Order: sequence, then structure tokens, then C-alpha cells
Amino acid sequence: MSTADYGEKIPNNVALHEDRRLQRALESWQPDFLNWWESMGPALPTEDVYLRTAVNVGREGWAHFGHVPMKDYRWGIFLAERDQDRRIGFGEHKGEPAWQQVPGEYRAELQRLIVIQGDTEPASVEQQRNLGATAPSLYDLRNLFQVNVEEGRHLWAMVYLLHAHFGREGREEAAELLHRNSGSEDAPRILGAFNEETPDWLSFFMFTYFTDRDGKYQLGTLKESAFDPLSRTCEFMLKEEAHHMFVGTTGIDRVVERTAQVMVANDTDEVAAHGAISLAQIQKYLNFHYSVSLDLFGGETSTNVANYYTAGLKGRWMEGRRKDDHKLTDDAFLVDALLDLQSGEPRIGQTEVAALTGLNTDLRREYIDDCQGGVNRWNKILAAAGLPHRLKLPHIAFNRKVGAFAAIEASPDGDILGKDEWERQQGKWLPTGTDKTYVRSLMRPVYERGKIAAWIAPPRGAPSGGGINGKPFDYDYVHLA
Ligand SMILES: [Fe+2]
Ligand SMILES: [Fe+2]
Repeated sequence: MSTADYGEKIPNNVALHEDRRLQRALESWQPDFLNWWESMGPALPTEDVYLRTAVNVGREGWAHFGHVPMKDYRWGIFLAERDQDRRIGFGEHKGEPAWQQVPGEYRAELQRLIVIQGDTEPASVEQQRNLGATAPSLYDLRNLFQVNVEEGRHLWAMVYLLHAHFGREGREEAAELLHRNSGSEDAPRILGAFNEETPDWLSFFMFTYFTDRDGKYQLGTLKESAFDPLSRTCEFMLKEEAHHMFVGTTGIDRVVERTAQVMVANDTDEVAAHGAISLAQIQKYLNFHYSVSLDLFGGETSTNVANYYTAGLKGRWMEGRRKDDHKLTDDAFLVDALLDLQSGEPRIGQTEVAALTGLNTDLRREYIDDCQGGVNRWNKILAAAGLPHRLKLPHIAFNRKVGAFAAIEASPDGDILGKDEWERQQGKWLPTGTDKTYVRSLMRPVYERGKIAAWIAPPRGAPSGGGINGKPFDYDYVHLA
């Protein structure tokens, strides 16, 4: 199967030409997508951009690199190869053949899961719309646009599933994905973090590190789905997602590195006079993006998610590697909780629940471990510079709006605070208006080949290396219009 059909209007490896009705439906959604891209996608006018385009799913190479005008990017539909013998890996249908069609009894739930995932993809493009105007280098500008076109392709991936498997309702939901907009009063995006602004590049790198990483974990659970087309779509999306993680991780690396250089060279923590971002500000941005991303995993316990698992719709991260019965009906699990609520002196602890209802917590913990990896990396950069300062992830209860800890305020160390105390102190932990204004003031575009803004270090290996696809940092990644 799955030779990529690149001659078609919509590149695909799903033999779209064999289903004329579906093809026509998607072809009629395509102009709406392009209108959305023109009006809500990257605002900076460009001639062309050095982009990676997915052209197939094979190991031998699934991507093609070249300069393309962004509006001519070939957004395609690519599902990972089908495993003819694939069996359901968990839940009450464990061991049965994976579903090629949506079972009627799970139709509504599956559609909902796909819509929620689909809604995040264009949302981030909207959030990042204006960042091109202040890119620190052509290399970074290209990486931004790469992330943007791929989030557009991920929208296509979800819209394909809606059109192919959910009939008229699916087509209506696909249309709605272009009507909701990030931050809109009337029709906002579904999840909170996707209605926040991404007003500057520090926020962008934090977003791609923390919030895109939530996406990686959600895709990881949907990749386990008994509904095989969803599984295969997510498996391929995860390949592209790796680059988004890279942009966030190395972006923050380079901000920390630049700050460390300035601190050492001037023997000061106060780097503003030298045009860098202080570690205290980096920590505040980290605190914000991490805590809003924790909210994306939902409440500590959830019967919906338990039902999704039992039904086989959504698994656990790395389900195949778990050493249990993959049904969890008799298991218990400790989730984070607010205890002694009635006493008037609540404390943060853990409580035992049925394992199935604790699956959000399970996934959030996997995510937190992964986030810690980045912090360790950035701390190595500080240590290598000879600095004693360290960054850290704030406590799980800090700045939460969803779940058990939404009811309280807590410091980054996990001390419960009264409302007044929180109001007094939060400016030490979250970006203040002054911090945001300062960071924004640094955001001046640098569009000259091989040059970079003063608040961020170039990638390792620059200028002769350190770029994308073996190209140097000083390559002409973007031609502005
Ligand atoms: Fe995505
Ligand atoms: Fe992404």
C-alpha cells in the first residue's frame, strides 16, 4: 500500500482517488483552509522558505527539503503504514483486531477526541501569527514557519479522519475547526493554553517546549487507539513533532547560554543593561508555560478518561511497554490531591483511586519527567559557565486552574498561600507587565544572513554548521517579500 500520491491536489498515501466523494469533500474544504492560512497564518510576507515537506512515511526518507512559497506548501494526508495484524493493546477489547471503521457505540467519543486534538493544531498557528515580525535570525524564522506549516498539516490529518469516518457531523466539525480562533471572544479554541498569546520569542520557545510537548503526549496516547486510522495518523504526526520539541529545547538552551555568557562576562545577575534576559525572567516564563501546560492534562481523576481507556479509544503513554494486564480493572493508583479540605487547613498530598480513573495523572507524570529533562539540560549549561544558579520546575500545585489545585494558591515550592499572600508574591514567580514589556522590547527582527539578536546565542556549530538539514546557520533560509 501507501505509495504517496503527489500528483493530486491533496498529496496523500491513503488512495484518496479511490473515494471520489471523500476526495470532493476534502477538496471543497481545501480553499477554506487556504483562506484561513492567508488570514490567520504567518503575517510576515515572504517569497519562499526552506521547508521540510512530508512526502511519504517510509524509513528511507519521508521528507523533502527545499525553498517553497508558503502558500504553495503541499499539505498532505499521510498515515503510517498499516500493520495488517494489529490487535488492540488494552481495555476490554484487548486482543481483538484493531478497528478500521468507527464502531457505532464509540462514535461520539472518538469524534470528540479527534476534534479536541484537531483544535489545538491551527490554534498554535494563530497564536504565533505575528512572531515573524521579530525573529532573532533567519534560521529561527524558518523554524517558526516549519512548525506552523506542520501544525497546518496536523489539522489536515484530523480533518481527514473527520471527513472519512464521521459523515456529515464530521464535515461540520471540520468546518468549525477553521471558525474557532485562538483568543476569540465569541468562538475561542477549546483548551485554555491555546487561547493565550504568544507575544514574543521566549514565549514561543517555552510554548514549543512545554505546550507542544503536551501535544506529543496526547498523540502518544491516541497512537495506541484501537481505531487504527487514528493510531496511524498520530504515529506519523509524532515524527514531525520531534522537530517542534527540538525548536523549544534548543531555543531555551540558546537563551540560557546567552544569558550565562553575559552574566559571566560582566559578573552580574542584572543582564538587562546588556540586552539579555535574566535567569529570574526565564524562570518566570518557565513557571507560566509549565503550569498552564499541566492544566491541559485535565483533572487528577476522570471517569471519561477511564471510559476511553476501557473502550480502547485512548491508551497510556508507551502502553506496549507497561508490565501489567492493560485492563487495570482491579488496580489502584495514587493521584495528587488536596487533603484535609474540611479542616480548613488543606494540605497537598496523594490519595488512592481506581487506576482507571487516575490515567490523567499517569500521563501528566510521564510528561513531568520529560520536562525535567530540559531543565537538567539548561542547568548543565549554567554549570558549564561556572554559575551556581539553577532553573527548576515549579511545584505541581503552582498556578493551576484545572484539577485539585485550582481551589488553592501555592508557591513554586508547594507551600499553600492565602489569597493576599499570593497577590503580593505572584510577581516574583510569574511574568509581570514589566517583564513582558522588557522581553518584548528585545524583540527586534534580525533578517540578515548569519546574524543573530543579542538576547540569544546562535545554535552550536554556527556559522558554518548548526543549521537545518546539514545547511549552515548562515544559509538563506527565508527570502522576504
Ligand atoms: Fe501538531
Ligand atoms: Fe507541534
